[in-house]
Amino acid sequence: MGNSSQIITNTFGILTAGGDCPGLNAAIRGVCRAAHDRYHMKILGIAGGYRGLISGDLRPLQPQDFSGILTRGGTILGTSREKPFKSTEIGEDKVKAIKENYHKYKLDALVVLGGNGTNTTGYLLAQEGLNVLGLPKTIDNDIEGCERSFGFHSAMAICTEAIDRLHSTAASHNRVMVIETMGRKAGWLGLYSGIAGGGDVILIPEIPYDIKAIGRHLKERAKTGKTFSIVVVAEGALSIEEAKMDKKDRKKFHTETAVPSIGYRVAREIETETGMETRATVLGYVQRGGIPSASDRVLATRFGTTAADMLARGEYGKLVSQIGNEIGPVDLSVPAGKTKKVPRDDPILDTAMAVGTCLGI
Ligand code: F6P
Repeated sequence: MGNSSQIITNTFGILTAGGDCPGLNAAIRGVCRAAHDRYHMKILGIAGGYRGLISGDLRPLQPQDFSGILTRGGTILGTSREKPFKSTEIGEDKVKAIKENYHKYKLDALVVLGGNGTNTTGYLLAQEGLNVLGLPKTIDNDIEGCERSFGFHSAMAICTEAIDRLHSTAASHNRVMVIETMGRKAGWLGLYSGIAGGGDVILIPEIPYDIKAIGRHLKERAKTGKTFSIVVVAEGALSIEEAKMDKKDRKKFHTETAVPSIGYRVAREIETETGMETRATVLGYVQRGGIPSASDRVLATRFGTTAADMLARGEYGKLVSQIGNEIGPVDLSVPAGKTKKVPRDDPILDTAMAVGTCLGI
């Protein structure tokens, strides 16, 4: 880990792309501090994700730029959901512009902090001959090849606190409280915060729900004297009926049901099925804002300093990942184009059921 051997990377660019999350600045600081202090590398900050690399919005980062940012939410570099490969001719122009700027600014490497989209683009740029390192950021924890992304722990803590707060008001009013978390394709956040918050029902995209089974569960609870219930629903959850529909029919169904999101729909379905008074709360962007948890600060810092070590060794084309308690590289082809979903045999599902949680089936 020292700096005695030859340092392969002299100059690198760093960007944050996709949805923001707590821990991005801690990771930026980790990469930049170690790269600057240990390896004396030159760092260029790229504004607004891949958009800044396309337009050439790069500026040198000095130690004062990455000082005092460990605890700050968001990203000092800004972000966007720009996907340079996702279009035809224009897309090709964007990739061309990225390659031109990479060479114009004399970058030896590119460090990209992001989720599935960001790391997929990173992989494709590596295929185009650029030296790329990815860092796993997302509150969804759905990056293939990585046990835990930074941002997840902070978001889980926010969701859990929200569930705790909704618990007491649910109990006071004898209501069913539906809480919608983020997680369009994978249900990790809803599942973990649901377990942490003692959810009576947890619905995730990986397990299409049966409203009859939910109704039975809530009525059984009521029979045993429980006067309220907590239902945690991940944004991408869907019913067994919807799971059978093709994309077009599902879209039509969503328009017809005319509810702003799944949380409201499940609340309405529960009221119809059980007659119990039900309320919905959508946590939304509050899950992605604010300071990172202590755990995410450590994780993001570990990812960052490991990335600096890898830059020094010239170990490119990798995602800096966490497997068990180890931080290390996996090939960027592993997360590219994939989503890490909750497997049906994941022991955490059995844990949830063992404490009496209904998973919608
Ligand atoms: O960062 C991923 C995510 O949190 C998803 O769970 C959610 O669907 C998405 O962001 C929404 O973010 P935006 O509105 O910024 O696209």
